[in-house]
Order: sequence, then C-alpha cells, then structure tokens
Amino acid sequence: MARISLTRRPRETRKLCNSNGVWVVKVTPCVAISLVGLIVLCLIVSGLSWWNTSYPTLEYEFSHCATNRIRRSKRSVASQPSAPSIALVDRDADERSLVQPRAFSSWPRQRPLPCPPQFELQEGGELREGFLYLRPFKAASTTTQSVHLRVARNVASRQTESQPRPPFCQVSAGHGPQPYPAVSMFGSRNRQRSFLWSVIRDPTDRAVSQFFYNKVFRQEKAATAENLVADLSTDTGTNRPKNYYIRSLALTEFRTDVDDPVAFVNAILDDYDFIGTAERLDESLVVFQMLLRLPLADILHVDSKISGNRTGSRKIPPYTLVSHPTGCVYTGGSKTVTRDMRDYLEGRAWNDLIRYEQILYNAVNASLDSTIEALGRRKFEENLARYRKATERVQNECSTRIRLPCDAEGELVEHTDCMLKDMGCGMDCLDRVATEMGLW
Ligand SMILES: *[C@@H]1O[C@H](CO)[C@@H](O)[C@H](O)[C@H]1NC(C)=O
Ligand SMILES: *[C@@H]1O[C@H](CO)[C@@H](O)[C@H](O)[C@H]1NC(C)=O
Repeated sequence: MARISLTRRPRETRKLCNSNGVWVVKVTPCVAISLVGLIVLCLIVSGLSWWNTSYPTLEYEFSHCATNRIRRSKRSVASQPSAPSIALVDRDADERSLVQPRAFSSWPRQRPLPCPPQFELQEGGELREGFLYLRPFKAASTTTQSVHLRVARNVASRQTESQPRPPFCQVSAGHGPQPYPAVSMFGSRNRQRSFLWSVIRDPTDRAVSQFFYNKVFRQEKAATAENLVADLSTDTGTNRPKNYYIRSLALTEFRTDVDDPVAFVNAILDDYDFIGTAERLDESLVVFQMLLRLPLADILHVDSKISGNRTGSRKIPPYTLVSHPTGCVYTGGSKTVTRDMRDYLEGRAWNDLIRYEQILYNAVNASLDSTIEALGRRKFEENLARYRKATERVQNECSTRIRLPCDAEGELVEHTDCMLKDMGCGMDCLDRVATEMGLW
C-alpha cells in the first residue's frame, strides 16, 4: 500500500540533489553496464535518456528532487512526476492536491544533541542552532513549550561541560514575530545543528479557540455566530485563519493567493524534524522523546492552564496569563459552539478557507502513524503507557503545589515556580516524580 512505502521514504536521496534541487546522480544503470565493459555506451545512453524516466529507481529520485526544486521556485507540483502519494483532498476533480506524509527520522546516533549554551531565556529572537519549537496560537502550545524548555534544561545539564555550566541549551521561546514567525526565527537555521518541531491542532478547533480567547475572553465581545463569522471570515483581523499554519510554519514567506499552498505543505513536512498534533499530544510527545532518544523524565509537564473549572480537591484557577497588557484573564467561561456557529463551520465557505490547513493537518496526523511504525509500535506503546502513568502521578503530586503566575482570584503572583511566564513550571516536583518512577 502507498502508506507503507511512504514510511520508508529515504531521506538520503537528498544527497542526490544539488543545491538547486536538481537531480545530479544517475549512476545506477551505468554501474551495471560498466561491469560488462560498456562504459562508453553507457554514457551515450544515459545522455540520451536524461529525461527518460523508464528506470524505476531513478524516477523516484527524480521526483524527490523535483519536489525540492519546486519548493525553491514555488511553482505548482501538480504537473510533476510524483513519488508515491496519497490524495488527501479530492473534492474538485480537476485539482489533485498531492501531499506526502512521512516518517520523521531519529536524531543520528553519532551526532550530539544540538546544545549551544544559553544563560537566559528570551522570546522571539533569530536562532540557527539548538532546540527550535514553532509555537502556534491555541494549539496546546503552553504545554508543548514547557516540555521544550525542560528538554533544553535537562540536555544542558547532562551534556555540557563548559564552566560555568549553562542552565539551558539554546532554545526558542514564544510565538515569534507575526505573520511569519518561522521565517523570522528559524529561516536561516543550521539543519545539522538544530532540531525543529511543532505541534498543530485541528484547524477549525484552533480558530474557534482563538475566537473565544481573543474576542470573547480578552475583548469581552459577545459569543455570537455573527461575531465568530466576522472574526473567521476576514483575513485582516487578529485571527487570520486562512493558511495560518502554512504562513506560520513555512521557512520562506508564504504569500496568500500567490504561492502554491500544496508545495508549501510539502516543504513544511520536509523542513521540520517533527510535527505532532494537539489531539494526540501524549503520543506526539512520546514520539518526540523517542526521535531524540531522551529519557521519559524530560517530557513530563504540569498543566499551567486549565480551561473551565475542575471538580474535587484540585482547584486550578481558570485564569490565563497574557502579556499585553501583562495580567490574568479569566478563561473559564463557556465556549459553547452554537448551532448557528456550527452551520458556518460546516459550510463550504469556511472549509474552502482552511482547505490547505486541513491538508497539512491530515498529513501530519498520518505522518505521526508512519513515525510510530518506523520507531517500532511495541516500544512506543510501552513508553506511552509509562508516560501516562507518570503524568497521572504528576497531576496528583505536582499540579496543586506549585506557584503559577495567576492565583485563584486572578491576581499576578510575584515569585512563581516557572521558568518563563506560565511555562516550564514545577521542575523540582517533576524531577522528583521522575526519580521515584525511574524515568531518567
Ligand atoms: C464550574 O462548573 C460548574 C459545573 O460545571 C458551573 O456550574 C460553574 O458555573 C463553573 N464555575 C465557574 C466559575 O465557571
Ligand atoms: C488521525 O489518526 C488517527 C490514527 O490513525 C485516526 O484515528 C484519526 O481519525 C485521524 N484523524 C484525522 C482528523 O484524520
């Protein structure tokens, strides 16, 4: 099946492409022929058959090069010869949007994890090396950023010997400058010396969440279908849902209605070392941990943001820290999606708007499965079970005991247990649980 061969998409074929993405190595048939002493004939034949794709192994590599080249010239991939692909959207018969999910690769064993020293956390600057996380809005990003910071902290303490010992490996923090955060922060990253990843959420849920967060909770607008449609259907406001992920994740500027979104989706899948989904966050974090060969201790986290309220003895205030102006916003209110809202979200206009977002999201979801298969499902399930058990314990033992930036009354707390704002909280407690459960 197509999916299975995709999981084996050989990343090494990149070496067969030169810096312009042009196919440069075409020796396989020549080697065979020269073995029987027909080198000269081979050269003539391969010269004549430059564009002849009748050699199956070469065809595959050629199309891989073609994809790379298109990424640079930003032209359509629709007419190119394609590697095994799955059609993720087939609503319009004449537009075949082909996107290739892939199995993300493990960090090479012989290469040390990317850990240039960093002494202070800062948000939004340009980084070429280290741990790079592209942080979308409203996609489990506080949790993911917390794990990301913890990894940078733990790897630094294990791996660096320089004195004074830096508290972190170089690490990104914050959403980054909009509207092209990845271009600004990671556009010139060194691929060998950095690990670039992200976590994305179902595009409709993400946009709705952003509407409630920005418009309803922060600006105190009414949660009506009319306001939702106004926020989601324009491309000028704060939400700007059209091609939001593509614009945010791409490492070159994506111009809506100019550039080919399918080529950009393929480029994003190719450029990132890993992308997970918020809906499968546990699985995504365990895959992330396995790709980097980290101990499970590194991906533990406490929830610093709870939507709505909780029953029982654990009471975490439904307040969220915001930066502008710095303060705590009540985010525990209703997020009910009404019938009228649903009508819009299920309609043609909205689904056309997020069409390529959905293609990217589906490909990422499929890539998660391919990656799990490549890592070994049994090992993965084992890790996931241990991780979930540890997370349960963290919820009981850490979550209520740490000082978060917003207290139960929505007042700012001066001295918190967090590394940065409401992120990377409760490290000591997490370390203790990890030690007690043998997760290092
Ligand atoms: C907490 O939840 C209960 C039941 O789900 C609800 O009745 C109550 O209004 C909520 N409290 C706040 C402060 O949101
Ligand atoms: C994501 O993948 C899971 C597991 O393969 C599947 O059950 C789920 O339906 C997928 N979700 C979407 C939106 O495709």
